Amino acid sequence: MNIILLGPPGAGKGTQARHLVDTRNMIQLSTGDMLREAKDSGTEMGKIVADVMARGELVTDEIVIGLIREKLEGDKQGGFIFDGFPRTLAQADALADLLADCGETLDAVVEMQVDDEALVERITGRYTCGNCGEVYHRTTKKEAVEGTCDKCGAQDMKHRADDNEESLRTRLMEYYKKTSPLIGYYYAKGQLKSVNGLGEIAEVQAAIAGALDA
Ligand code: AP5
Ligand code: ZN
Repeated sequence: MNIILLGPPGAGKGTQARHLVDTRNMIQLSTGDMLREAKDSGTEMGKIVADVMARGELVTDEIVIGLIREKLEGDKQGGFIFDGFPRTLAQADALADLLADCGETLDAVVEMQVDDEALVERITGRYTCGNCGEVYHRTTKKEAVEGTCDKCGAQDMKHRADDNEESLRTRLMEYYKKTSPLIGYYYAKGQLKSVNGLGEIAEVQAAIAGALDA
């Protein structure tokens, strides 16, 4: 099964993708994570995207489509979770072509609905394990004592460079302007499944499972 998790910054896409990886043997393809890896390893592409990401703007379609293309060539396991991709209509068209080229189909697009006020609270309280990528929140999902990651035991909690109010404003504007048209695009194709992303993490997990297994 191949699915897209669609939603604004902080909607919980990464959190829910990691749960699907654990429970359904799926592969998470997060373009945000791939771009951050490129930035951290100091590649030419990483240097180009670093400032764009810190400002909260979208990087070019060419770059992210290239990243996804490479990943589709490997082992497919229980299917792909596209997390944070596509984000423009051009990326959506490219994904349809890429999936067709490797004989795959898109099974569902899960839209996670969360209002702006909750997004600000989630983004400004988020931190991430620098070792395994597990995502935490200062009030809704706390790690083990003294900054120890529950998942891998490392003590390496990090905040993201774009998790401040100014970048978040730009990220939200980019979302509403360039990404939200995808809701209508996938609705018209009969692939859209909208879930309430405002409940607790376990409630959202159940809502997504219900949407995928319906
Ligand atoms: P990306 O990394 O994709 O960031 P994003 O879309 O802004 O999404 P986030 O990772 O911020 O949020 P999320 O929905 O995954 O929420 P999370 O689960 O962490 O992109 C970053 C940048 O890269 C972009 O701005 C752009 O520059 C570039 N980029 C990436 N892809 C691109 C593309 N395709 N095209 C062009 N540019 C691209 O949860 C957030 C917090 O809330 C956490 O603390 C979590 O613990 C908490 N939380 C989660 N669920 C709940 C819940 N149900 N209740 C309470 N708290 C919750
Ligand atoms: Zn960890």
